[in-house]
Amino acid sequence: MVQRRPLVAANWKMNGTLATLRPLLAEVIAGLDDGAAEVALCPAFVYLAEVAAAVADSRIAVGAQNVSEYTYGAYTGEVSAAMLKDYNCRFVIVGHSERRNLYAETDAGVAARFRAAQAAGLTPILCVGETLAEREADATEAVVGRQLNAVLTAVDDFAGAVVAYEPVWAIGTGRTASPEQAQAVHAFIRGQLPAACRQQTRILYGGSVKADNAATLFAMEDIDGGLIGGASLDARAFLDICHAA
Ligand code: G3P
Repeated sequence: MVQRRPLVAANWKMNGTLATLRPLLAEVIAGLDDGAAEVALCPAFVYLAEVAAAVADSRIAVGAQNVSEYTYGAYTGEVSAAMLKDYNCRFVIVGHSERRNLYAETDAGVAARFRAAQAAGLTPILCVGETLAEREADATEAVVGRQLNAVLTAVDDFAGAVVAYEPVWAIGTGRTASPEQAQAVHAFIRGQLPAACRQQTRILYGGSVKADNAATLFAMEDIDGGLIGGASLDARAFLDICHAA
């Protein structure tokens, strides 16, 4: 039985200011136990330096919420993988549903961003997930499989990457997927992965993970931690989720 180290990553999205993030950071750093789970914080780009400096002497890793598919050049507003490495980023979220749905990021574009992250030595956290309409149309596996396959067919090696299953209908809604619903999709995702990395790949669940549901979700065989939005902005709630993994 392959042991996968759980990962709990905070996706702070476009939330917070220095005034609110500094105490949040201090409380998370001070309150995190020496538990098994790997923990990462993914702030907005502008706070990467602050977060990287604050966690430098802790066991907490830093991640970004996106990355350009280009290495450098005239791409106003974009941030390259090399720039993220400058701030000791270990992870980078790619293909979040908010990027796909609000900023028209395509499967091919997500694959290019995934490749750029890998090329720079960053660990991509590839987000996949269906809308409520797609679930109700029994298209969950078709959608998640399409999103995953767009990357699998674009890279030479998926080993080391992380997948996050985030049903769109559970993000920010308080309507969490049941452990059984999430496990079913996680098992499907694992089955789609190349045999060489199928058992080692960590598959996170995201979508209204809270302190009171994290343990039952993380207890499922193919759920290897979580990608946490709203609850990660509350230090106590985020710590409880980390300690549940
Ligand atoms: O990337 C994680 C995020 O989409 C989940 O958000 O607020 O439902 O935990 P939330």
